[in-house]
Amino acid sequence: MTDSVARLTPVPASDAPRPAPLAEDLTVLVVDDEPSNLASLRKIFERDQMRVFTAENAKAALEVARHHRVQVVLTDLMMPGTSGVDLLKALKELSPDTEVVLMTAYGTVETAVQAMREGAYDFVEKPLKRMQIVKTVRKAAERFSLVAENRSLRKEIELLTTREIVGQSGALRRVLEIATQAAPSMATVLVLGESGTGKELIARYIHSKSQRSTGPFVAVNCAAIPESILEAELFGHERGAFTGAVGKREGRFARARGGTLFLDEIGELTPQVQVKLLRVLQEGEYEPVGGDMVRADVRIVAATNRDLAAEVEGGRFREDLYYRLNVIAVTAPPLRARREDIPLLVDHFLGVYCKKNGRSRLALSREALSKLLDYEWPGNVRELENVIERGAVLARGDTLGLGDLPDAVAQAAPRAPDSLEFPIGTPLEEVEQRLIRATLKHTSGDKRLAAQLLGISTRTIYRKLGEG
Ligand SMILES: Nc1ncnc2c1ncn2[C@@H]1O[C@H](COP(=O)(O)OP(=O)(O)OP(=O)(O)O)[C@@H](O)[C@H]1O
Ligand SMILES: [Mg+2]
Repeated sequence: MTDSVARLTPVPASDAPRPAPLAEDLTVLVVDDEPSNLASLRKIFERDQMRVFTAENAKAALEVARHHRVQVVLTDLMMPGTSGVDLLKALKELSPDTEVVLMTAYGTVETAVQAMREGAYDFVEKPLKRMQIVKTVRKAAERFSLVAENRSLRKEIELLTTREIVGQSGALRRVLEIATQAAPSMATVLVLGESGTGKELIARYIHSKSQRSTGPFVAVNCAAIPESILEAELFGHERGAFTGAVGKREGRFARARGGTLFLDEIGELTPQVQVKLLRVLQEGEYEPVGGDMVRADVRIVAATNRDLAAEVEGGRFREDLYYRLNVIAVTAPPLRARREDIPLLVDHFLGVYCKKNGRSRLALSREALSKLLDYEWPGNVRELENVIERGAVLARGDTLGLGDLPDAVAQAAPRAPDSLEFPIGTPLEEVEQRLIRATLKHTSGDKRLAAQLLGISTRTIYRKLGEG
């Protein structure tokens, strides 16, 4: 290159702007075929507390980018061999987050503009000015951190909003089918089911499949909020509406605007709040404590582990509210009614909790699986999740065994006394056939689970049954 960094306008160090604090050390890679340029740029960036790599050509640059986390690449546009634009494309393939700044000589600005369209962050014209390049590189680095931060936030949000619903049983599939059908409408959905069956997961699922999925999902646990403040919590209050109401406060209805409001443990609502809620469902508006009517813009999903019909019967829950809530009802089935989901859930939670505890994935002993299948699971999936989490912490070897299960589970009574009897001398082949068929019946036709119980591969089952 003909331009030399020696032509940089000298600027006294004390005039330099104070570098903005960045989350991580700023690493910059400078690419230029002119070694003297590299040397001067290195000095400049190092004086600015950056970590600097240099490369004399695109190939060497890609090598550096492959081995180090580089936030910003500052590259010459015209280089023998591969041009800066080609390097830009290759870099974007290799490390999409890395920001690229091009250095252009007189007359190449058009190419630089085209490079911007290819995803370059900016270009600086030669002769380079020290202040300007430092500023540009810093800005590019800020954008790098923003993009990275955004991505990790998005990931976190995804995790929070769409936790995977594991299971393939007919019972669960039917629930998800109804939920999928109900999701796009504005209809209120009532999710019923025992504790720990995944009611909240289903509510989030409905939200994620609805037209309001980009809006907020706001959950309110009606049982956890003291009765005296529940109304204000839901509908908000004006300043001075009651003793202690120092400022105006938005309620959960307002916060869920444009999204879904999940009213959990709805069976615990006081008669007073029941009336207010009925009004929102009927009129589509509500009244903040001490304030004026506001239009509600929420989709409501409610859940309870109580038998709401019985609550109505007993006079503890308003019948009119019950019918308003019960437009579409789905019942999350208890785990004991869909035992074929147990191995899948165990598998899932083993993956989650081994990882969380920084240990390699545990295998599961046959005895342990058998007990997990026998147990009644009064606490449903939540209880199973806790048992596996506990096991993932306690297990000493590489296998989760009977000894790693809580006593209640390890000592679960075998379910049906499913056993077979054969006269001595029964041909082995016949024994095998009958045993396999009986096991399949026991697992409701789930071959994977049957194979696991029998200690053979699924393929072997197919083969023995003459299906493979
Ligand atoms: N099908 C499933 N797949 C994966 N995880 C599940 C499933 N069902 C439930 N869980 C997990 O079990 C736990 C309990 O689920 P959730 O909180 O949705 O249950 P719930 O019915 O709302 O319980 P409660 O009535 O006690 O509030 C959560 O950690 C949830 O992620
Ligand atoms: Mg819940």
